[in-house]
Amino acid sequence: MSLINLQEAMAIAAAQKGALGAFNVTCWEMAPAIVAAAQSADFPVVLQAQWPFLDYAGCEVASHFLADLAVRSKIPVVLQVDHGKSWEQIMMCLRNGFSSVMIDASHHPIDENIALVAQVVAAAHAMGVTVESELGRLSGSEGDVVVADADASFTDPAEAAYFVQQTGVDALAVSVGTVHGPYQGDPKLDFPRLEEIAEKTAIPLVLHGASGVSEAALQKAVSLGVRKVNFSTELRQAWLSAMRLTLAEDKADTLPAISAAQKAVESVVTEKIAILKG
Ligand code: 13P
Ligand code: ZN
Repeated sequence: MSLINLQEAMAIAAAQKGALGAFNVTCWEMAPAIVAAAQSADFPVVLQAQWPFLDYAGCEVASHFLADLAVRSKIPVVLQVDHGKSWEQIMMCLRNGFSSVMIDASHHPIDENIALVAQVVAAAHAMGVTVESELGRLSGSEGDVVVADADASFTDPAEAAYFVQQTGVDALAVSVGTVHGPYQGDPKLDFPRLEEIAEKTAIPLVLHGASGVSEAALQKAVSLGVRKVNFSTELRQAWLSAMRLTLAEDKADTLPAISAAQKAVESVVTEKIAILKG
């Protein structure tokens, strides 16, 4: 149907008090499975490519493949780079047809974070491309983003308001208790903090590290102003376990294992969209 930017897609989700699922593409064949699930749910989706995949696949070829999937799909699709870390990475994505970018400069002091993000916002907005950014830091690991527990920090609501006003970002990723990767014990989200950030910033919020977070907690987060929810770990786990099982039975061909892995990812994406759709 169409490739749209994050603001347009979040408006569709907000109209039904729901949120978008954003699903990380970590190998080529995962992308069609994500789009297929969103098509069946008849709900927009964020096809999210993390830099290590783009680097491995070749940013130009991979971007064209993903954008083509988006344009041919029966639902609106946002094509976003996840945790872009540098001006150079963002420029590659802008040149290659991404409709949204995430610039994650959360490892820098706030003034440097603001300066880089504001520069990205100016360039991206001039092309109709939306920008997500992050304040506070989630612990755990996601692609090439690795944060030790000691370096993690929650988002400060007052600082978030200042950050949004200074940068003009379209969506803000917050750190309120989720982690990247598997959880040790039950995830504990700081909902009062999330509510205060939503009130003070008045922009759509993004929840990262959503694999392993309960349905009730996800829905509560959405009710407080989260409009985009990021999943990666659960997709990779589903992909790998389906592949291992199939490869144990069929060692002669490539497609059975890939198809089984695609079906497994499709069912995780279907389940998450049903939770978030509103
Ligand atoms: P999980 O891998 O914990 O699902 O986190 C996904 C994410 O935040 C991608 O940016
Ligand atoms: Zn993330």
